Amino acid sequence: MINKRFFEAVCLAGLLGAGCSSSQKATAPKVSSLGEAYKKDFLIGTALNNAHILERDSLANQLIKQQFTAATPENIMKAEVLHTGWEKYNFEMADKIVAYGQKNNIKINAHTLIWHSQLPFFIRGIKSADSIKAYFENHITTVASRYDGKVYSWDVVNEALNEDGTMRNSVFLKNLGPGYIVEAFRLAQKAAPNTQLYYNDYNIEAPKKRAGALEIVKKIQAAGVKIDGVGIQGHWHLGTVPYKDIEESIEAFGKLGVQVMFTELDISVLPNPLRGNTADVSARADENSANRGNPYVKGLPDSIQLALAKDYEKLFRLFLKHKDKVTRITFWGVTDGGSWLNDFPVRGRTNYPLLFDRKYQPKPAFYSVYNLKK
Ligand code: G3I
Repeated sequence: MINKRFFEAVCLAGLLGAGCSSSQKATAPKVSSLGEAYKKDFLIGTALNNAHILERDSLANQLIKQQFTAATPENIMKAEVLHTGWEKYNFEMADKIVAYGQKNNIKINAHTLIWHSQLPFFIRGIKSADSIKAYFENHITTVASRYDGKVYSWDVVNEALNEDGTMRNSVFLKNLGPGYIVEAFRLAQKAAPNTQLYYNDYNIEAPKKRAGALEIVKKIQAAGVKIDGVGIQGHWHLGTVPYKDIEESIEAFGKLGVQVMFTELDISVLPNPLRGNTADVSARADENSANRGNPYVKGLPDSIQLALAKDYEKLFRLFLKHKDKVTRITFWGVTDGGSWLNDFPVRGRTNYPLLFDRKYQPKPAFYSVYNLKK
């Protein structure tokens, strides 16, 4: 049963002809910016790629400035891009996103200091604990201090947990021991005292993995080190968004006194050829396998558009209900055409996970989120 508000949203998006009154079709939203509409509730963010940061995509540029109050570099502040040799760094693109944020009054969440994936080429394969320790300390100190007061926040540690809540057997755990997460935050706090510091991971709304993330927060706090928030990435699938787990997680993290953010939000509408939900970039499905599943190359059926809009509406109702704890919602990309989900876990599919379509137009899902604030 489509409710009145939702039906109006669909009419506004021009999705349905029949049944939409002319006044509904003609009514433009009073405020067309999501960031503006939600400014009293939480930040609305997006992920920026090179073309965005260099302002080479003029339509995206307009959308970013109009719609978003926060942004995360999708790739260019990862260690493999920033840290090019033992004592060599390339800050060119990172400096540019900082300038872009300052110019457009968009808060930059820097992503990410310590992650087992996308490590610099020179550190891959190194087995000496001393070398890993030297890299770890130099990287955090050099990068975090350069951007202190210039970026709003850092994802200090990214994806340190397994699905069962135990610690991932990463290069950092193996060489530095389980205390490395507290140490990363300690170093980040020292290097960037004016920057918010977060732990970021996918699936930490799920009970077992959530328990692991709660432990991380408690350990950092018990050591007297600062942690300001937790980022639940939010890479979900249409029809299986785990609302109950999400709400329980907001409450559980909130009880520890840290902010809760949804930092990489997208909802895949395509069949998932992998077992379970993962955002682990090393997971890949064979593109020639029978499971390839790429049903919407020519466009998304109305029924799926509506289901996506409903999932987004339900999610944002939940975020609004907990706006005392939720401080940012960041979509992982600007438009469907640029989403990483066109190439994950199978390369070359056509996915529709965001609020803006391949022509940079708002989808029904945009209006279902926007209209909650009308
Ligand atoms: O820039 C090179 C280009 O020069 C080269 O020609 C091309 C060939 O494949 O690759 C380009 O690099 C790609 C890069 O994205 C920029 O497009 C890498 O191969 C590709 O692996 C990389 O993927 C990114 C992935 O993280 C790994 O860093 C995705 O864009 C990015 O969306 C994804 O983001 C992660 C978050 O950081 C952490 N959470 C999960 C999330 C999704 O995996």
